[in-house]
Amino acid sequence: MRVKRVALLGATGSIGRQAIEIISSRADLELCGLMSGSQPLDALGLEHGVSHLQVGGSAVPLLEACEPDIVLNAIVGFAGVEATLWALEHGVTLALANKESLVAAGELAVAAHRRGGGLLLPVDSEHSALFQCLEGRAPETIDALVLTASGGPFRGRSAHELANVTVADALAHPTWSMGRKISVDSATLANKGLELIEARWLFGLPYENIEVVVHPASIVHSLVRFRDGALLAHLGSPDMRVPISFALGYPDRPAVAAAALDLEHGLDLRFEAVDDETFPLLPLARAAGERGGTAPCAYNAANEVAVEAFLGGRIGFLDIADTVAGALDEVDGSPARDLSDLVAADAEARRLAERRLVPA
Ligand SMILES: NC(=O)c1ccc[n+]([C@@H]2O[C@H](COP(=O)([O-])OP(=O)(O)OC[C@H]3O[C@@H](n4cnc5c(N)ncnc54)[C@H](OP(=O)(O)O)[C@@H]3O)[C@@H](O)[C@H]2O)c1
Repeated sequence: MRVKRVALLGATGSIGRQAIEIISSRADLELCGLMSGSQPLDALGLEHGVSHLQVGGSAVPLLEACEPDIVLNAIVGFAGVEATLWALEHGVTLALANKESLVAAGELAVAAHRRGGGLLLPVDSEHSALFQCLEGRAPETIDALVLTASGGPFRGRSAHELANVTVADALAHPTWSMGRKISVDSATLANKGLELIEARWLFGLPYENIEVVVHPASIVHSLVRFRDGALLAHLGSPDMRVPISFALGYPDRPAVAAAALDLEHGLDLRFEAVDDETFPLLPLARAAGERGGTAPCAYNAANEVAVEAFLGGRIGFLDIADTVAGALDEVDGSPARDLSDLVAADAEARRLAERRLVPA
């Protein structure tokens, strides 16, 4: 048995901690490098026998030093973009949780992936589901991808009712336990907007063939519509260890101690339409994706700024979407030729978003 070396970026986060649990339980995987944004890693490194550690900065020196077979990118935000591009360019298997990097760098990432020729395995539960439903299918048989959304903690509310919700309300996700940024993104549905753009780059379908539907129980992780009317769905308990393990173990599908769905007592398979009016960050993502160039990068950057401001009590919940919409109106959006163009587009959108922040 060949042991695969895993570089874990974002090791101190929600995905990072679950990944460590999985890697520690498996004889065919070993940690070779750990990265965080600001939390110290010495204790974690000692506990798991990892000497390549890095806190903040560029991921590239760590990745070059630890020579991974798999990069699990679980950094939050645009900060993950360099690691994604490095893994794709070098043909190193990329297990991708950091959706923001694919949203921001879509075209550059696809080109790097083509050159590098390695595996790109989604960790997001919806995209892991789609990847599995699509495997081995002829492209011409596929009509549409259907991403499911839990609807978040504010499903069913009107915009008026959301004017005064608190950070604690926004962080109380009904079905998933996650980091703070993605929890707020789930409450605004920006997370589904990011996932829509992520799906476009992962699977190559145009936006008009990618649907989003609300499924509050979060047991159908996504579906594929085929041209004969058949739908293939991926079902399971909402447990991120399943898609993390799938990506790290691909193609072997190792066992995971996740709760099994209880079919005999009936499953809640209710679906409903997304309320685009109350949650404008989803249609804004679709528009940014269709506009192309660096518009998705700007969408992501402005959203990161607005979410940070909301978490810090500087703006209200509804101001998040207004900030992103305003910044998108102003950005130039022309395509990025390379990483430095992308970094400049990200910085410009952050500057425009910062300027729009209004006191709560
Ligand atoms: N959590 C989930 O269930 C879930 C599901 C699907 C997809 N995802 C995606 O996975 C990614 C991580 O989410 P999460 O919920 O695990 O977030 P999280 O709990 O907030 O953890 C974020 C991780 O990123 C690290 N980090 C932050 N800035 C960094 C930087 N500049 N350089 C290097 N590392 C940095 C953090 O380090 P510090 O601790 O030092 O700040 C932490 O380890 C996000 O892109 C999210 O959208 C998450």
